[in-house]
Amino acid sequence: MIDALMTKLKTTGYQLTSPPENTKGFTFEARKDADVVAVLVKEHQAKVNVAHIAQFQDYLGLEVAKRFTGGWMISASGFSNPALTHVKTEEPSNLRLGTFSIGSLNWDYPLGLSPSVPPPTSPQKANLRYFGVFTCKGGVGKTTVAAHLAGAFALLGFDVVLVDLDPDKNLRKLFLQPDQTEEDGDASLYVPSKGASGTTITVLNHDHWNEKQYPDIKIVVCDCSPVLSENPKDLISKFDYCIIPTTLNLLGVAKKADVITRTFGHLRELNQKAEMFALINGYDATTDAAPRNRLLLELLKAELDKYTSKDKKCKFIHPDEAKIRYSTALFYWGIHIVKKTPPELAFKEVAGRSNPRVDFLQLAEYLEHHTDIDALKRQKG
Ligand SMILES: Nc1ncnc2c1ncn2[C@@H]1O[C@H](COP(=O)(O)OP(=O)(O)O)[C@@H](O)[C@H]1O
Ligand SMILES: [Mg+2]
Repeated sequence: MIDALMTKLKTTGYQLTSPPENTKGFTFEARKDADVVAVLVKEHQAKVNVAHIAQFQDYLGLEVAKRFTGGWMISASGFSNPALTHVKTEEPSNLRLGTFSIGSLNWDYPLGLSPSVPPPTSPQKANLRYFGVFTCKGGVGKTTVAAHLAGAFALLGFDVVLVDLDPDKNLRKLFLQPDQTEEDGDASLYVPSKGASGTTITVLNHDHWNEKQYPDIKIVVCDCSPVLSENPKDLISKFDYCIIPTTLNLLGVAKKADVITRTFGHLRELNQKAEMFALINGYDATTDAAPRNRLLLELLKAELDKYTSKDKKCKFIHPDEAKIRYSTALFYWGIHIVKKTPPELAFKEVAGRSNPRVDFLQLAEYLEHHTDIDALKRQKG
């Protein structure tokens, strides 16, 4: 495929050079007039995902890549939906995404020039999915993950309700306008989406959630209390999927695995159908932490494998696939309450990038692959 692509670019006037040996980050360089482009070719059979793009963007930001006027990522099999949402939201001006197939190059970003193919329709079951966010431990990021996962689903165009099952009722407060009292009206958040109409997340306490009153809703994300018995049983039993946030820190990985396996076990007593996904939150992605993370992950995986081999509906999401990195934006999320400013998610850009947004889109992408929610969006038509 690379040869065919190179031939194609040469016929349109580009001069191509291969990078010096052992260069990572791009496949070849393309020059034409003032343009010096780093071209990264992805020949995978799977579509290019959010992580691939974020990695290429990181590369383009490095000192060694300063000589490039831009970067093109060319995929043999296209780009995932969350990957396209990521670039349409962030709108990087130095990046182009293209799909090269059967000798022709079509641009996916900016400007989808290729005709869009209507997705296949498949027979449907009920058109509502419940995601619980539960760990039988406080402070691991359940509320943070529930809110921002709902935000990522909204970015992808799903109509989402966020329901607070925790008797502490903290979640809804985070979505009230500065002048709004708890009794007065809806708590909601508009998640704008560039180039398309945005989506609103509605935030409810569990006693106000009623499926019949919200016929358009496709996804319900439930933020749980760490004490399982404090959560309404009828809702727990409805979970189709459950996200189990956990932290990967040095203190007692054996203990951590215990928290996760206990969480799996408790939930299973009340719900036999839910697929469960353990997710690393607060991940330290600095280079220094890499050896420690590897070590801890090995231990954690070994512990969890014992459980997940028995209950096939329990999975550990390896951080290579999806994780939520530690971020100050998430750490201070909720500060708007103190500042008395309107509610917002921690998706705001710093220097054009938002790690939390990338991470939660990547998580949503993982879930699109490992659940059946993709079909819900198609139904919307
Ligand atoms: N990825 C993260 N990076 C930085 N801080 C985080 C992250 N996730 C959660 N936190 C912080 O950890 C604390 C506990 O999070 P919270 O979502 O309330 O946990 P839980 O609902 O499990 O009790 C909060 O102060 C939150 O800001
Ligand atoms: Mg909480």
